[in-house]
Amino acid sequence: MAEDLTITASTDKAEQYRSLIPQINALINGEPDLVANLANICAALKEQFKWFWIGFYLVKDNKLVLGPFQGPVACTRIGLGKGVCGAAWQQAETLVVANVNEFPGHIACSSLSQSEIVVPLFHGGKVIAVLDADSEALAHFDETDARYLEQIVKLVNFK
Ligand code: SME
Repeated sequence: MAEDLTITASTDKAEQYRSLIPQINALINGEPDLVANLANICAALKEQFKWFWIGFYLVKDNKLVLGPFQGPVACTRIGLGKGVCGAAWQQAETLVVANVNEFPGHIACSSLSQSEIVVPLFHGGKVIAVLDADSEALAHFDETDARYLEQIVKLVNFK
C-alpha cells in the first residue's frame, strides 16, 4: 500500500484528478474493508483539494447515515429526498449545486458551506451511499468534478 500521497502543484482541476485517481486506486486496491477505503478516499481528496468538507453518507435502515469524512462535525442522518444528499440519493444522480442557499431544503450542517456536489455510489443497481463535498466558495464544483468523482466512487468495492 502507498503510504504517501503526491500532491500535484498544478492548478488545473482535471490534472489534479488525473494525478490523484491512480493513487487512490493504489490505496484501496487489495484492501477489502469498506470503511478503511472510504476514509482514505476522503483523506486523499482533502489533501489535494482542501475542500471545506468531504465525506460519505451510507444508506442504512432507509436513511443516509454519516460515514467517514474530513472536516467539521456534520449532521448524522438524512432522509430520502432531504437536502442535496437525500435528493441525489432519490434521483440516483450526481447533483452540482452552485449556491446551496438557493437549493430548496438544503441541510446546512455549516453556514460556511456555499456550494456542494453529491455523487451517488451504486451497488446492484441501487444507491448504497453518497459522496458529498462542500466548499466555502460559491459555484466551486462543476462538470469536471462530477466526471472525476464519479470515476473515483466506481473504484470502491462493496463485496
Ligand atoms: N448539505 C448537505 C448535508 C450534509 S453536510 O453538508 C455535510 C445536504 O443538504 O444534504
